Amino acid sequence: MKIDALKTFKQRSEKITCLTAYDASFASVFDQCGVDIILVGDSLGNVIKGGENTLGVSMKDMLYHTQAVAQATSQALLISDMPYQSYTSAKQTLENAKYLMQAGAQMVKFEGGREHESAFKILQDNHIPVCGHLGLQPQAVLEMGGYKVQGRSEDDAQRILENAKALEGWGVKTIVLECIPAKLGKKISQSLNIPTIGIGAGVDCDGQVLVSYDMLGITQNPPKFVKNFLTNGNIASATNDFIQAVKRQTFPTDKHSY
Ligand code: KIV
Repeated sequence: MKIDALKTFKQRSEKITCLTAYDASFASVFDQCGVDIILVGDSLGNVIKGGENTLGVSMKDMLYHTQAVAQATSQALLISDMPYQSYTSAKQTLENAKYLMQAGAQMVKFEGGREHESAFKILQDNHIPVCGHLGLQPQAVLEMGGYKVQGRSEDDAQRILENAKALEGWGVKTIVLECIPAKLGKKISQSLNIPTIGIGAGVDCDGQVLVSYDMLGITQNPPKFVKNFLTNGNIASATNDFIQAVKRQTFPTDKHSY
């Protein structure tokens, strides 16, 4: 998918589908099923490396998995995560984003808002497309006191909304909204021209992403926003069910929202 298509999806009110992949085999199934975006997420720290969080993920990990996924992705837009502490200065951000693009990413994603203004701006100045990530930021899990819903208070909700608007102003192409009340997911999505992609952010986001291992029911004790789509059939049919459910807005439901 071309990056420009993101805005077209929003203008047409067609929901965007996104799944994470970490290797060529899964990427190939998701790509052939027609998922719009494949994300090489730093959730690989949990689901591949078995860590408690994503802090142990390195640039070397991200490059290895991005190269593998890129081998098998021809239709979907390929986004790769910038891992923990890989975007602490403008110079470091540009260098690491360049490596991910050279490994096959078409866009890079990193967590946070205004505190990373120089990182967003240097990528915009150098024509590297960026996906933002607001709400629950897994790389800040220690600071946030655990995997908790964000934006419940008015002040916090306002801060997230303002960050989303700032990111749009700095040329960010799309924003992942993680674990925020559905009402806030809707408000942010309606306030922006770029699409939002929700995970635990309600049905009114412009798209939905799931960690593929959650979507396939592998994860023990998954969060509320997860649905296991592999109830019968195979991985391709589960993927098709996820895509159809997002497009028809039958997933997520209130049961998967805050
Ligand atoms: O790392 C990841 O998989 C993510 C998704 C949860 C959006 O950032």
